Amino acid sequence: MTHKVTVVGAGHVGATAARRIATKELADVVLLDLPQGAPQGKGLDILEANPLEGSDARVLGTLDYADTADSEIVVITAGLPRKPGMSRDDLLLKNKDIIKGVTENVIKHSPNCIIIPVTNPLDAMCQVVYRVSGFPRERVVGMAGILDSARMRAFIAMELRVSVENTHAFVLGGHGDTMVPLPRYSTVAGIPITELMDAATVEAIVKRTAGGGGEIVKLLGSGSAYYAPGSAIVEMVEAILKDKKKILPCAAFLDGEYGIKNLFVGVPVKLGARGIEEIIQITLTAAERAALQKSADAVKELVDVIKV
Ligand code: NAI
Ligand code: 2OP
Repeated sequence: MTHKVTVVGAGHVGATAARRIATKELADVVLLDLPQGAPQGKGLDILEANPLEGSDARVLGTLDYADTADSEIVVITAGLPRKPGMSRDDLLLKNKDIIKGVTENVIKHSPNCIIIPVTNPLDAMCQVVYRVSGFPRERVVGMAGILDSARMRAFIAMELRVSVENTHAFVLGGHGDTMVPLPRYSTVAGIPITELMDAATVEAIVKRTAGGGGEIVKLLGSGSAYYAPGSAIVEMVEAILKDKKKILPCAAFLDGEYGIKNLFVGVPVKLGARGIEEIIQITLTAAERAALQKSADAVKELVDVIKV
């Protein structure tokens, strides 16, 4: 392949994303973890599926950052998943230390890469990667909004019995209970869902979307979602490698956009070969703006705790 992508963390999310990148033949993949993550075994297993998948992507599982050298994209999924009864925020301090160490190793070997943080609490971990790497904000772009929007699209399609391909949804804000699903900007074949459902149904979908991660945690009993998160990561990787300039909701470092400064929050961005090529500012109602600010305040609280 002409591209190289590293996935740090060979757990549920990392291995799922690595497999999908390889299967889609988007890039050669390096999968890195600590020994307990068994990256070599998972990497070889993915490689051995390639003949059946018709992919010539090279896949390497490793413990050594030297193998990640000159990656164009590094996806960081290393850390601890949320357990039942545990909030995303409980993970904060533990994962901060992990992400700091991982970022230092990543930038040593791939100083020009684009980093996609995934580890929770997502927006605060993006801030750690951004500060530790010293990268320009274009090259640190967090995955969350695509997942949250996909969940909302799935719920819309189920409710209206339409193809998911006809659905579009926008979820802004931090990746937490305060996230801001935007029904006005969520459509089926271009028609806002507010025209297609009564207010109570829209509200139920909004609520289920905001609790989407917790719903899976509860159902799984141990660990958190990984199939949809894996697919969401690959949507970003593909947009960057193919320079698609897709408009996608991602966690971006805001410098005054939406009235928010010095903080990662989920907003629509244009994603291409240079990473975040533009932050798209859409018009919000006073209520939507207030909800976004509340969500940003929740992110700020975490960032203040970890002091990054
Ligand atoms: P997992 O426990 O299956 O995998 C995490 C992996 O990270 C483990 O294999 C572990 O050995 C590895 N790891 C820990 N410390 C490391 C280090 N210093 N260097 C390299 N590897 C290290 O967890 P899972 O389910 O894959 O989730 C990973 C993270 O992603 C969690 O923080 C989870 O909350 C988050 N997540 C975020 C989503 C989002 O939308 N942003 C969606 C789903 C999960
Ligand atoms: C999710 O939303 C746990 O953040 C993860 O599934």
